[in-house]
Amino acid sequence: MSSIFVTRKIPVPGIALLEDSGHKVVISEKDGVLTKQELMTALSKDSYDAILSQLTDTIDAEVFSCAPKLQVVANYAVGFNNIDLSEAKRRNILVTNTPGVLTQTVAEYTIALMLAVAKRIPESEVYLRSGKYDGWAPKLFLGTDLAGKTLAIVGAGRIGYEVAKKAFHGFDMKIAYYDIKPLPILESEMNATYYETVEGVLEVADIVSLHVPLLPETTHLINKERLSRMKKDAILINTSRGPVVDERALAEALEGRLIFGAGLDVFENEPQVDSLLLQQSHVVVTPHIASASKETRDAMSLIAAENILDVLNGKTPKYVVDA
Ligand code: GLV
Ligand code: GLV
Repeated sequence: MSSIFVTRKIPVPGIALLEDSGHKVVISEKDGVLTKQELMTALSKDSYDAILSQLTDTIDAEVFSCAPKLQVVANYAVGFNNIDLSEAKRRNILVTNTPGVLTQTVAEYTIALMLAVAKRIPESEVYLRSGKYDGWAPKLFLGTDLAGKTLAIVGAGRIGYEVAKKAFHGFDMKIAYYDIKPLPILESEMNATYYETVEGVLEVADIVSLHVPLLPETTHLINKERLSRMKKDAILINTSRGPVVDERALAEALEGRLIFGAGLDVFENEPQVDSLLLQQSHVVVTPHIASASKETRDAMSLIAAENILDVLNGKTPKYVVDA
């Protein structure tokens, strides 16, 4: 029997699988994010073999030192920037994530944000609910269309590919993309155009959608200078990680009307959101919920548990994250 610490209550399927496999499962009682100190205290209470963590948990050398028997950290997320991978490697601890199962959900959400910004849905809804609607008008909430426009995918991984597919087949958009290397299937299936530089793809895009992992090289990938390369009526969508965008620079670009709008599900300092950004119209902001469908969160729970069981059983888990 191994001991597994779950840092926050997650959907049942994975927990049930771990318990049915005969392991001791301890779930944090706090209904909220554990501070690093709370996490360290909780880990020190037992000798844990596995941690099932959230993207809101910082897992670094100090935390590892509270769990000397630890074999695996299974992050309940596709992203893994909250974990110090080189420190994990040094200690022979495997780190796993839950890709694949959330691809469709996040891609759907990305399209939803594009439509919400382009059609100005949240803004107009607030207007109507606040009693301001006094009848149809030719120019009331003029937005833009997606058809025929160019979508730039920045980061052609699973999610980027799926967003491109939906935009191309479902909305008749043209696809341009940037990644460190080309993804030929995007070109053969969607006639996509590859750009070797972020600047190159930003300049041709009507909508830019970010799908890179958060790494030192992708921090502030979208900065003041690059925002100034975008078209004046362009829309920026971010469902990846907040720090990929310099949030204050984005707020200033919106205020200065350098671009049309933005749809953001992630922020630089969650749960805080830049105050200037919140004052801008044509901005749709949501609380990091792109993967939040019942189906996907259940599937993520199962995959995180399977990753743990594989490690405990001496097998290589399906989704190992490499430093
Ligand atoms: C969500 O942001 C995830 O990384 O799963
Ligand atoms: C994540 O699943 C990605 O590769 O985009």
